[in-house]
Amino acid sequence: MFPFLLLLFPSITLYSQPFAAASDPIYDNFANCLTKTGIPSDHIAKILYSPTNASFNSVLEAYVRNLRFNTSSTRKPSIIVTPLVVQHVQATISCTKGTGLQLKIRSGGHDYEGISYVSGVPFIILDMFNLRSIDVDIASETAWVQAGATLGELYYRIWEKSKVYAFPAGVCPTVGVGGHISGGGYGAMLRRFGLAVDNVVDAQIVDVKGQVLDRKAMGEDLFWAITGGGGASFGVVLAYRIKLVKVPEIVTYFEVQKTEAENATDILYKWQNVADKIDNDLFIRVLVQPITSKTGKSKGQKIIRLTFIALFLGDSNRLISVMNAGFPELGLKKKDCLEISWIKSMLYWANFDNTTTPEALLRRTPDSVNFLKRKSDYVQTPIPKNELTSIFKKMVQLGKTGFVFNPYGGRMGEIPENEKPFPHRSGIIFKIQYSVNWQDADTNLEKEYLQQARELYSFMTPYVSKNPRQAFLNYRDLDIGSTDDGKNSYNQGEIYGLKYFKGNFDRLVKVKTLVDPENFFRNEQSIPTLPSMSLRGRK
Ligand SMILES: Cc1cc2nc3c(=O)[nH]c(=O)nc-3n(C[C@H](O)[C@H](O)[C@H](O)COP(=O)(O)OP(=O)(O)OC[C@H]3O[C@@H](n4cnc5c(N)ncnc54)[C@H](O)[C@@H]3O)c2cc1C
Ligand SMILES: *[C@@H]1O[C@H](CO)[C@@H](O)[C@H](O)[C@H]1NC(C)=O
Ligand SMILES: *[C@@H]1O[C@H](CO)[C@@H](O)[C@H](O)[C@H]1NC(C)=O
Ligand SMILES: *[C@@H]1O[C@H](CO)[C@@H](O)[C@H](O)[C@H]1NC(C)=O
Ligand SMILES: *[C@@H]1O[C@H](CO)[C@@H](O)[C@H](O)[C@H]1NC(C)=O
Repeated sequence: MFPFLLLLFPSITLYSQPFAAASDPIYDNFANCLTKTGIPSDHIAKILYSPTNASFNSVLEAYVRNLRFNTSSTRKPSIIVTPLVVQHVQATISCTKGTGLQLKIRSGGHDYEGISYVSGVPFIILDMFNLRSIDVDIASETAWVQAGATLGELYYRIWEKSKVYAFPAGVCPTVGVGGHISGGGYGAMLRRFGLAVDNVVDAQIVDVKGQVLDRKAMGEDLFWAITGGGGASFGVVLAYRIKLVKVPEIVTYFEVQKTEAENATDILYKWQNVADKIDNDLFIRVLVQPITSKTGKSKGQKIIRLTFIALFLGDSNRLISVMNAGFPELGLKKKDCLEISWIKSMLYWANFDNTTTPEALLRRTPDSVNFLKRKSDYVQTPIPKNELTSIFKKMVQLGKTGFVFNPYGGRMGEIPENEKPFPHRSGIIFKIQYSVNWQDADTNLEKEYLQQARELYSFMTPYVSKNPRQAFLNYRDLDIGSTDDGKNSYNQGEIYGLKYFKGNFDRLVKVKTLVDPENFFRNEQSIPTLPSMSLRGRK
């Protein structure tokens, strides 16, 4: 890649001597270009960072949410641009074209593979954190939210205006709206209201030509694509207009743990048979984790512990009767139930303690950041009891990788598979997230943990969806196919594209080919353009 840069920047040799030169030709050329687009120099001085700027590292690191991509060997961007107004976004797109560099767009930085801020090729980061205004309008039951806002900020601003409205998006408050919604985000109300994208009514993007387009101007195809197909293949999402949903003043939250000695296997088997069919107001997530036992006969040994975490859009009396009728095996008691406001329930989902006030949702930085790996799968047939036992055994043997089971059904099963790019709807009982976190920068540990997550994924093959083996875009996993040459051939794109989007992949490719034929907006797993003008048929 370096020779290519040399052609573009004859003075690059200056830059290749670290710290020797005060000026950075990439920065200077970019600043000149921004000036030509009419951006005043005092703005440029505030929004453009070169690696020689004192605050370059802190700006880069501010939204790194996976420490695997915070090492000295991680490739750093050539420039970071932090737009303050829409015109800065338009100018960045236009000026990036002349550089030949890849443009990465970052909102909240929560991409599990870090692809909003790392790259295999030289690149620029367009960092959206300054564009984060939120305008809630209770009268029309909608809100405009800019891409750089976090989910926590969004929930807080809704709660400020009304205690009976909410939005059905993710449970981690620091996640960014730009990546989350464009990737089809979900949360604990998906059985009642569907995904975040099932509740988006308008959007604003800047396209490859620098035009600012709303839903009407971009047309239904592009609007469809950026509500689940990933924003980064199509343009820069500036904002979404979302439809608020009504929630009761009091909801019920519970957390119940079971080990194998407490019939965990039987209970999890039953959960698979009811979790997607039970009352739509009830969402029961299960964490399946290998832990070191602290009590009983197994003290000191690795065992499997299940944690059932639930949100019920109603009071505890109705919840207990729903549970007694549908899932008595869990043995839920009134004393396990917390009757709280919806906003308080979001604090519980985010693991804050019970003295925390809703203002905590405004914190843009999480309390801790880990080294991590995630993968995903979809289950369409309950896994038999004896097979659950062998999966538990495998997890204990591997030692660290856990699962999060998220039930579907309800509203998810009613929405047609092609309504949005996100295709995992009817027939899905639950989604599996594979999850392994660690704290130590040791690269041998990293190798070991990546290997065990992959081994567990391979072990699960018989129990999960096939042809294609489906995956969730927002649980970004480069193992399922990717390209790091910055080119995205159609054949490479088809590999991960069919897993993330099934039959919707073809329409995404068509939209991509129309709106960005030169493939300016690209990344390791973006939607490729068509190799020829005619779409190939697919069964
Ligand atoms: C702690 C944690 C908890 C999570 N919990 C949930 C959950 O409950 N539910 C759920 O569905 N997901 C969850 N996720 C996954 C999360 O939804 C995705 O990682 C999401 O893409 C993050 O959005 P972001 O803006 O923070 O990420 P970024 O890393 O900034 O972006 C992710 C992707 O979107 C692109 N992108 C970002 N902003 C824009 C924009 N303005 N225009 C165009 N493209 C853009 C990026 O280029 C990148 O490809 C969680 C992730 C983490 C780390
Ligand atoms: C980066 O450094 C240049 C040159 O010193 C300076 O003009 C500019 O203001 C700095 N950028 C930021 C965002 O601080
Ligand atoms: C990322 O790395 C830098 C430089 O080593 C370090 O100062 C910073 O604390 C790291 N970030 C986190 C969240 O650990
Ligand atoms: C486990 O199930 C058996 C029979 O199904 C029951 O007798 C026993 O009490 C259960 N154990 C626990 C700890 O719930
Ligand atoms: C918070 O939790 C603690 C410990 O579980 C409990 O003793 C306390 O009463 C709770 N406080 C509130 C305000 O719910």
